[in-house]
Amino acid sequence: MKILLIHGPNLNRLGQRDKQHYGGLTLKQLEDLVKQEANKNNCQIECYQSNHEGALIDFIQEHTDGADGIIINPGALTHYSYALHDALLDSGLPCVEVHLSDIKNREDWRRISVTAPACIKQISGQKEKGYIQAFKMIYDHTRNKA
Ligand code: DQA
Repeated sequence: MKILLIHGPNLNRLGQRDKQHYGGLTLKQLEDLVKQEANKNNCQIECYQSNHEGALIDFIQEHTDGADGIIINPGALTHYSYALHDALLDSGLPCVEVHLSDIKNREDWRRISVTAPACIKQISGQKEKGYIQAFKMIYDHTRNKA
């Protein structure tokens, strides 16, 4: 099984961003955590981060074949990128949207996710634990389908 782990704008700076919202892990540490969990389950994780909407869409389009699911934290693109929504939907893969912070209890504009309707689930406010939940969700979803 192979799962894509995708991060959007500014998430390359985890570890230096507001720790209260985003926790203290760097992106590399976060990716390694998910990889560790995946390894235990014989599953491969392919990571990608970009600050550019089009690059994220290119990556999804180019890596859909051969992948079984997507874990994505789209960063601020969550709140306005219909193009990313469509790319996730077009992939036909089970996608889980993860936010480190609790987007429902911050500024009003963060409450809206235009990408979540393309996902089987949105997880927010669990910091890095949300990624482990997302992994398990896609793993179970894919195994139940097989
Ligand atoms: C975020 C929440 C977004 O609103 C924000 O723009 C981010 C990170 C999160 O993980 O909590 O960059 O996706």
